Amino acid sequence: ALVSPVSLTSYDALPRALLCVSHRTGDIQWIEQDVPAGSLQDVLARHGIIDMSGMELVELRNGEFLIPGFIDTHTHAPQVPNIGSGQEHELLDWLAQTTFPMEAKFADDNFAKKAYGTVVRRIIDSGTTTCCYYGTLHLGATKVLADFVHSAGQRAFVGKCNMDRNSPDYYIESSAATSVEDTKSLISYIRGLTPNSTTALVQPILTPRFAISCTPELLGSLGDVARADPTLTIQTHICENDSEIQFTKNLFPPNILPPGSEAAKKGRTTYAGVYDAYGLLRKNTVLAHAVHLEDEEVEMIKKSNAGISHCPTSNFNLRSGCARVGMLLDEGIKVGLGTDVSGGFSPSILTAVQHASIASKVVAMHHPSSQTSTTTFTSRQLPISALLYLATQGGADVCDLSKRTGSLEPGKAFDALVVSLKSDSGNPNVWGVDWDADLDVSGTNGKTERQSLEAQLERFLFTGDDRNIRRVYVQGRLIGGKEFIPSA
Ligand code: GUN
Ligand code: FE
Repeated sequence: ALVSPVSLTSYDALPRALLCVSHRTGDIQWIEQDVPAGSLQDVLARHGIIDMSGMELVELRNGEFLIPGFIDTHTHAPQVPNIGSGQEHELLDWLAQTTFPMEAKFADDNFAKKAYGTVVRRIIDSGTTTCCYYGTLHLGATKVLADFVHSAGQRAFVGKCNMDRNSPDYYIESSAATSVEDTKSLISYIRGLTPNSTTALVQPILTPRFAISCTPELLGSLGDVARADPTLTIQTHICENDSEIQFTKNLFPPNILPPGSEAAKKGRTTYAGVYDAYGLLRKNTVLAHAVHLEDEEVEMIKKSNAGISHCPTSNFNLRSGCARVGMLLDEGIKVGLGTDVSGGFSPSILTAVQHASIASKVVAMHHPSSQTSTTTFTSRQLPISALLYLATQGGADVCDLSKRTGSLEPGKAFDALVVSLKSDSGNPNVWGVDWDADLDVSGTNGKTERQSLEAQLERFLFTGDDRNIRRVYVQGRLIGGKEFIPSA
C-alpha cells in the first residue's frame, strides 16, 4: 500500500501498488496501481524486467504502507539535548536562560561530536528524510553536524547561526566580518563533502538567526553573499512573539534601512520588510513561525515567493500564538512544518502534524467560517489531505526541493518511510483496530481497502510515533527506522 500527497485537498491512497526504485540513482522509476495478487512477474515483464536477480523485493504486509519521508523545515540540532527544559518561559527569556547556555557548550568540538551523532540518528528514526538544521554560531561544531548528516545519508540543509549582537558575552560572534568569513568557510566545506555539489544531499544554508541577533552591517554582508549565489537557501525566524517583533522594529527604524528598500521608501518598518531590505527574502528563504504577520508582510512574502515553516508545537509551548496557516494557504503562500526543537518538545513531524491540526481548530474557533465562507482553509480545521501535504510536499516546496522530494512519483528521489501499524510495532495506540481483519485481503473490493488505508493514515498521523517507522529511505538508500542497524 502506498500513500502520497497530490494537493492540499487530495492524496493518493493505493492499497495495492508496486513501486520500482533504481539502485543506481535512488530515483523512483515507475509506480503501478491495482496490481492483482500473483501478477508480479507479469507486471515486471511489462517493464522489461525478466531476470529478478540483483533486485531486492520489499513486500509490505496488511497494516503497513509506504509514505513520503517527512520534511522538517525548521529545527535546532544543538537544542535537542534541551528538549523538555525551560518550559515555563516565553521566547526571549527562554533563549537567554535555557537555549544560549546549551548552545555555548558547542564551542567544544568534542562536545559536538558526542551530541550530534545521537541527535541526527534520533531525527532520522523519527521519519525525517529532509531536515533544515540550525547549528550554533560555531564553525567547528557546525562542520561536525554536517559530517554526521552526510555520513548518515540524510537530505538536509545545515547552517551556522549568524549572531553579532544582543547575545550574551559568552555566546556571540566577535564581529560581522568574522561571522561572514566563518559562514563562507562552512559553505565551501559542505559543498566539498560531495564531488557533485548540485546533486548533493547535504546543502549549506544561510542562517541569520533572527534580525535581533544581527547588526545591519551583518545583514548587509549576508545579503551580498545571497545575491552572489541565487541557489543558496536562507533560513531565519519571523514574527514569532510580540516582544521580539517590537524589539526588531526598534532596532531597525526605516531611516537606517538601505535607502532603496521598500520599507525605507515607505518610512515604516515591518519584520519582513527588514529581511527584504537586505535582500534576504526570496523564493528559497524559509521563514519560521510567522505567527503575527501584518497584511503588508503577507503581501511581501507572497510577492517574494518565500516559504513559511509552521511550527505549532513551539508556538503553543512558548506561548507565542497561533499562526493563521489556513489564511497563508488561501493566499497561495508555500507552507511546510517545523518541529523547532527545543521551542517544540518533540523531534517528530508527527507531533507537528497533530499540533498543526489543533492550531487550525483554535483559529477556526475564533473565526467562525460564516465570516469568510468563500475561502478554503482560512477559518476551518485543516483536512487530513492538507496535514499530509504540509508534512511532505509542502516542506519540499518551502525548501525549493519540490521536484526532487516530497511525494512518491516517478522521477523523484525515493525518500520514503515504511510505516507499520501492526501489533508488533509495539505502539498500542494505532492497533485499536485489527487491520489484518479489517482489510479485504483478496483485493476484489477496492473500496473497502481504500477506506481502510485512509483510516490507517489518519491513525498514524494522530497516534503514531517512531515505533511505527520500520524503515527510512533517502535517495533509495536505507538509512534508518526501527529495522535499521547502523554500521559501527
Ligand atoms: N528566535 C531566535 N532564535 C530562536 C530559537 O532558537 N528558537 C526559536 N523558537 N526562536 C528563535
Ligand atoms: Fe527556531
